[in-house]
Amino acid sequence: MRSHPPDGRFGGLWADLAGIGRDALRGGYARHGFDDADLQLREWFVEQARRRGLDTETDRNGNLWAWWGSPGPNAVVTGSHLDSVPGGGAFDGPLGVVSALLAVDELRLRGVRPAVPLALVCFAEEEGGRFGLPCLGSRLLVGAIDPDAARRLRDGDGISVADAMQRAGVDPAGAGPDPQRLAGIGAFVELHIEQGRLLRAADPTAAIGVGSSIVAHGRWRITVSGQGNHAGTTAPRDRHDPMIPAAGAVLAARRVIQAHPGAVATVGRLQPIPGGTNVIASSVDVWLDVRHGAAADTSALVDEILHEARAEAELEGCDLRVHRESMTDQVTFDPALTMDLSARLGAPAVPTGAGHDAGLLAPHVPTAMLFVRNPSGVSHAPDEYAETQDCLTGVRALADTLEGLLAPEAVPR
Ligand code: GLV
Ligand code: MN
Ligand code: MN
Repeated sequence: MRSHPPDGRFGGLWADLAGIGRDALRGGYARHGFDDADLQLREWFVEQARRRGLDTETDRNGNLWAWWGSPGPNAVVTGSHLDSVPGGGAFDGPLGVVSALLAVDELRLRGVRPAVPLALVCFAEEEGGRFGLPCLGSRLLVGAIDPDAARRLRDGDGISVADAMQRAGVDPAGAGPDPQRLAGIGAFVELHIEQGRLLRAADPTAAIGVGSSIVAHGRWRITVSGQGNHAGTTAPRDRHDPMIPAAGAVLAARRVIQAHPGAVATVGRLQPIPGGTNVIASSVDVWLDVRHGAAADTSALVDEILHEARAEAELEGCDLRVHRESMTDQVTFDPALTMDLSARLGAPAVPTGAGHDAGLLAPHVPTAMLFVRNPSGVSHAPDEYAETQDCLTGVRALADTLEGLLAPEAVPR
């Protein structure tokens, strides 16, 4: 493998990002779609692209693109996202963006002359940490969400997607499917830190892996309504405490998955209204994240969990309503591309339980993922970490992958 170790440049780019969007309360980062940190990161990306002579544009859905060569058919696209979960780690998303920039440097040092355009992309609000819908930018791009429904989504402060886009200089009226842009993509490759430790299980010596598939995953908001009341003066028999069925839902989620190997269900967010220590809540919102097999398997698990939660609600004299916020079916990455990368890079192919923009693109364009080893497996948390040497191996693997896809013989005729 011809390579020009981008060691110093990796450290430099990584250091640029380190101070942006730190989450003082929770640790890690709070970088959410179109917020101040995200806008700062976008500016940084535009500047990095400018230094490399790449033309940048923001598409109708707020996704940021940088082009080596004029936009045109059969473009090879690589990138990831810049936003984080609340209190997220440094690597989930930005590693794919930094690696994309360094891969361009590496290709130029190798003297590669792309036979088709190469684009780097930063997808908007991948985590759904602000507006609740994961992969907002790529979902809009491929037409997997009604643009009106997307524009109406609101963050915790009541700011809508439409208002946030406007503030970021993106006309929300234009948001929606972008078939022409999609049709121009010949292949998409997303490099990402591994989340979990399936790579280690497949090969304890492998620094990188290739993604084979993503499990179906969805989010449900359960609203339990009861009777707000006084914590000191309300006898147990007089209570209609929505926190009881809410707790029932949390416990049901754990109980139900135990009977379904491979399934996961999580309540990571719960909001009592009004939220006072000496107040029986009048209502509680519980957000449930469930992932298992295909969409039908995931939905069946949710039904089981809700069955238990509804029984608790009835016992407590509470009302329970459910709103499905998102559902993304399972995807298998392009088998030929995946097998070819796995063989050429000597990287095991592993599935993942994490969602990615690559999962939204995969049903439409040949798509592959590269995973960089994560020694602890921890992700979506400040402790998320990858060794710099492994990240550099990832950059070289991405450059190798792109070099292959950009060669004249790789371009479909
Ligand atoms: C995003 O990383 C997700 O899997 O929810
Ligand atoms: Mn990610
Ligand atoms: Mn993530």
